[in-house]
Amino acid sequence: MVGGSVPVFDEVILSTALMNQVISFHDMSGTLVCQAGCVLEDLSRHVEERGFVMPLDLGAKGSCHIGGNVATNAGGLRFLRYGSLHGTVLGLEAVLADGTVLNCLSTLRKDNTGYDLKQLFIGSEGTLGVITAVSILCPPKPRAVSVAFLGCPGFSEVLQTFTTCKGLLGEILSAYEFMDAECMWLVTHHLRLASPVQESPFYVLIETSGSRAGHDAEKLNDFLEQVLSSGLVTDGTVATDHLKVKALWALRERISEALSRDGYVYKYDLSLPTERLYDLVTDLRVRLGPRAKHVVGYGHLGDGNLHLNVTSEAFSPSVLGTLEPYVYEWTAEQRGSVSAEHGLGFKKRGVLGYSKPPEALRLMRQLKALLDPKGILNPYKTLPAQA
Ligand code: MLT
Ligand code: ZN
Repeated sequence: MVGGSVPVFDEVILSTALMNQVISFHDMSGTLVCQAGCVLEDLSRHVEERGFVMPLDLGAKGSCHIGGNVATNAGGLRFLRYGSLHGTVLGLEAVLADGTVLNCLSTLRKDNTGYDLKQLFIGSEGTLGVITAVSILCPPKPRAVSVAFLGCPGFSEVLQTFTTCKGLLGEILSAYEFMDAECMWLVTHHLRLASPVQESPFYVLIETSGSRAGHDAEKLNDFLEQVLSSGLVTDGTVATDHLKVKALWALRERISEALSRDGYVYKYDLSLPTERLYDLVTDLRVRLGPRAKHVVGYGHLGDGNLHLNVTSEAFSPSVLGTLEPYVYEWTAEQRGSVSAEHGLGFKKRGVLGYSKPPEALRLMRQLKALLDPKGILNPYKTLPAQA
C-alpha cells in the first residue's frame, strides 16, 4: 500500500517466513503466542478450531504474516468490533538494532508497570526493531454470523443507515463497510464477480456476530424492515451460510485487486469525519475530469476510514499534481489522518507533517536515533527524509 516492506536502494531483505510456529494457545483466556512468520489465515484456522477468532482480518490474510500485521498496526475488517492491535496485542518479542532480544512477550491483560514498550513497535513498520514473536488476545468465536449487503440511494442514506444500524443492532454489529457504484463496476468487470443486488449509487456491507442465531436474526430483520420501509435502503440480500457470507465479503475485500487491474492506481487511506467522508471523492471526480479512469471511494465507514483510489491509463504527473498536495491539505483541514491504517512506508513518509505536529515528529526522530543510531532498520521508511 505504501511501500513499507519494499526495498528501495541498498537494503538487505530479512524474511521471517520460517519462524512460523504457534508457541502456545490458552483456551480459557484466548491468548495466542506465536512466532512472527505465522500467516494470519493459518492462525485464524488454529484458533477457530479451538473456539476463538483472531481479532483482525484483512483481504491479504492468506499471505500476510502476523509480525508484519503488528509492525504495521494493520487495521482491517474487524476493527469496528475488536479495535486496534494497540489493544489486542498483549506482548511481543523484538530484536533491537544492536542485537538485544527484548522479551516483552507478556500474556497479561493488565500490566501497569511503567512505559508500555510494546506499543513502540506496533505500527513502527520495522524501523525500531524486528518483531520476532507476539502474544495476542483472541475473542471467542461468534456462534452466529450474518452479512447483509444493501444498496443505498445516496451517501446521506449510507450515513443514516449506519446510525440506525448502531441503534438497532447494538452489540452484535461487527462490521460496517461501504463502497460506491464505481467499485461495484470494477469488481464485476475485472474480477467477474456478480452483484447480488440491484444497481445503486452506494452499497453497504453489514456484518453481525453474536452468540445466538435467533436473537441476531430478529434484530437484523427489525433493522432491515426499518431501513427498507424508510427508503434508506432500496435493495438488499442477507446471508448466514458460510459460502454466501464469503461471497458477499469478496465484493468488498477484492476492490483493491480489481483496481490494480484497471491501470495505474493512486491510493489514499484517510481518516475523516464520517459526515464528510465522501465529499472528497465527489470533489476529485470534478477536478480530475476525463484524466482519471475511475475515482472511487470505499472503506471502513464504521471506523471513519475512507479508501480513496484513483486510476488512470498510465502514471500521469498531471493527475498526481491534481491529487497532491490537495488530498493531504483537505484532510489536514478536517483534522483527519493521511494514513488511517496503511502506515507511511516509503510513499507517505513525506506527508507525515499533515497529521502530526513538529514536536511529535521531533520526538519520533529522537526515538529512532535512540533505538537505531546507525539507521539500519527499514531505512528510508516512516520518517520524512531529512533535508
Ligand atoms: C481494504 O480495506 O480493502 C484495504 O485496506 C485498502 C486497499 O486495498 O486499498
Ligand atoms: Zn482497508
